[in-house]
Amino acid sequence: MFYDLARRFMFTQDAEWAHEFALNNLRRYANTPISAAWKQSIENKPVNFLGLEFKNPVGLAAGLDKDAQCIDAFGQMGFGFVEVGTVTPKAQIGNEKPRIFRLPESNAIINRMGFNNKGVDNLVNNVKASHYKGILGINIGKNKDTPNEKGKDDYIHCMRKVFEHASYITVNISSPNTPGLRDLQYGEALDDLLQSLKNEQLDLIAHHNKHVPMLVKIAPDLDDIQIQQVSESLLSNKIDGVIATNTTLSRAAVQGQQYAQEAGGLSGQPVRTRSNEVVAELKRLTKGQLPIIGVGGIDDVASAHEKFDAGAQLVQVYTGFIYKGPKLVKSIVNSL
Ligand SMILES: Cc1cc2nc3c(=O)[nH]c(=O)nc-3n(C[C@H](O)[C@H](O)[C@H](O)COP(=O)(O)O)c2cc1C
Repeated sequence: MFYDLARRFMFTQDAEWAHEFALNNLRRYANTPISAAWKQSIENKPVNFLGLEFKNPVGLAAGLDKDAQCIDAFGQMGFGFVEVGTVTPKAQIGNEKPRIFRLPESNAIINRMGFNNKGVDNLVNNVKASHYKGILGINIGKNKDTPNEKGKDDYIHCMRKVFEHASYITVNISSPNTPGLRDLQYGEALDDLLQSLKNEQLDLIAHHNKHVPMLVKIAPDLDDIQIQQVSESLLSNKIDGVIATNTTLSRAAVQGQQYAQEAGGLSGQPVRTRSNEVVAELKRLTKGQLPIIGVGGIDDVASAHEKFDAGAQLVQVYTGFIYKGPKLVKSIVNSL
């Protein structure tokens, strides 16, 4: 009810303004009586994944809370886990505005934010200041002005900073909005990156005496051969899991709609089928050996079950959550 009213207002506003407005209020009021407006108690449906105990398998996807300002509020909504970021070593402003567009006919969004964030030190301070005790994923990336050959250094820098604060770390190599980033998903560049990050993870595990799993987040726009190469590389480098998928560059499903031709990544319903196919293909190729978090186009109970059926052990939501609000989380968890 509260969300329906809030949404009615926010959808009359510019998408990024509405986003900022919502985050500011969630941050400001999370630990006050006003939080009753979004707090939900949801029955526990525990899932063990990567050695971690998740209270339910429905998480918040990366990109909504890039600087980890609102973890407390998202915890109060009953998410089984929250993924913050993508965060980069240095703060950066991202692309020019406008850079988020709603496509309500398809419950979809196009964004070309470009990793706008306040940098990893700020994120760590926010995590330290929060009261959230649940599973926290921290999604890391590289700064736009870091050349791909040096991209590894950015990921390592972020890994070191976030390691002791994260339940798991996601290596994002699939945003379409940082030029060249997706090139890291292929061939030698991928192997080289994953090998270095795995070595770093092992050093950090030994140093902190804490196991923090590392997942890699991939795009839906990989063809079958590329998916095969990625799966081989993930397995051979002993990466703990995969998140499939990020947003798509394809516009096939939204032809003719307002904003369909805006540059950026498309999310929501139009990416659902392809994300499901990628999840299923990853499961098939890795013979179920690689833990999978499925994300892309979940906006109701049925679409969440499609992801589980395709092979995901956990799911995340972003665009569906913008359209449906916290009740989406509760309805999916209650259906399990
Ligand atoms: C506005 C916006 C910003 C996003 N930013 C990030 C990001 O910073 N890092 C990331 O890994 N994914 C990011 N994503 C991708 C989502 O996490 C998710 O993978 C994708 O949107 C598909 O899920 P959905 O259909 O539920 O939105 C972003 C998505 C949107 C809509």
